[in-house]
Amino acid sequence: MSLPQRKVEIAPKKINLRNNSDPFSDIAEDVRKGLTSNPKVLNPKYFYDEEGSKLFDEITRLPEYYPTRTETKILAKESERLIAKYTPEAIFELGSGSATKTNMILEPMTKMGLLKGIGLLDFNEEFLKESSLNFQISYPNAEIMSVVGDFSKKLLFDSFEYSPTLYLILGSTIGNMNQGESIKFLKRVAGKMRASDYFLLGTDLIKDEKSLYEAYNDSQNVTAKFNKNILKVINDKLGADFDPALFDHEAIYNQSKNRIEMYLISDSYQKIYIKDLDLEIEIERGEKICTEICRKYDRQKVKAMLEPAGMEIIEWLTDEDSLYALSLCKLI
Ligand code: SAH
Ligand code: AVI
Repeated sequence: MSLPQRKVEIAPKKINLRNNSDPFSDIAEDVRKGLTSNPKVLNPKYFYDEEGSKLFDEITRLPEYYPTRTETKILAKESERLIAKYTPEAIFELGSGSATKTNMILEPMTKMGLLKGIGLLDFNEEFLKESSLNFQISYPNAEIMSVVGDFSKKLLFDSFEYSPTLYLILGSTIGNMNQGESIKFLKRVAGKMRASDYFLLGTDLIKDEKSLYEAYNDSQNVTAKFNKNILKVINDKLGADFDPALFDHEAIYNQSKNRIEMYLISDSYQKIYIKDLDLEIEIERGEKICTEICRKYDRQKVKAMLEPAGMEIIEWLTDEDSLYALSLCKLI
């Protein structure tokens, strides 16, 4: 279901900030379903309120968290060549967050006189406003379109007419989706693309268990804070009475499924009341709530998501240690 669009002009003619759905519109239904099921589960998209987005940004700078650093390194090495070869005039980034890596693509586009449009879509309105204003300063001639929205639903924004447009989703954000969800999502992206357009997909790769474990169990406990923040989001949005201090963070690598599984473990028997749902839930001592699944890939697995969505990999870009990959794709 789509809500009417709210268009906020920050700087007339240059930036359009559109709100095409309230990102938290489904939270009541999702939380009721997730916390009354067995095992209990929460949707990781609810990590990203203002505090959660700041904590994620902190995670990206942790010494143990190699994905952001490695994706940045691949972009630093490849983006000039890619931009010269494929000449995009616009980009559209889904789940842009603080959009720090985006500059590595926009800079060569400006330098080569190509850049006409910058599109951003994210759950988090504050981050979108900040990155749009920064981009307006750095790229004053580009048209900027910012959309507050949910990419797990129909993509409601109007695409740029500039051709080719390069769509992107970085940060292994796709790793939160299971095979079916990722194919549906990629079909929605493919539905936006013309034959001339491109899609750049960032995916974390399968690797040794130790590196993966440490990336999600950092020594400064920032990931633990990020994990527990989802309970604060539920307190804020639904009037629940979770005490995050009564839960422990756990992230394990499930080797047979090639995925990190993140949990909150209750350190005692608890009753939680969620006012807006008029719901009381019981949590046993040691009971786990699954808050996030972060899937790890190889080229075959990436191909297996893209092909059913009608896309093919035209360049597979990875670092020398094969920690992370960027796939440049086109419609088949
Ligand atoms: N692309 C950035 C941020 C990755 S974190 C990077 O590579 O560092 C994941 C981002 O996706 C967050 O900014 C979060 O707000 C956004 N996000 C997660 N689920 C979303 C959804 N369903 N719809 C829109 N944005 C979403
Ligand atoms: C989904 N993505 C943006 C991050 C990841 O690594 O899968 C989220 C994250 N969760 C804990 N640390 C980082």
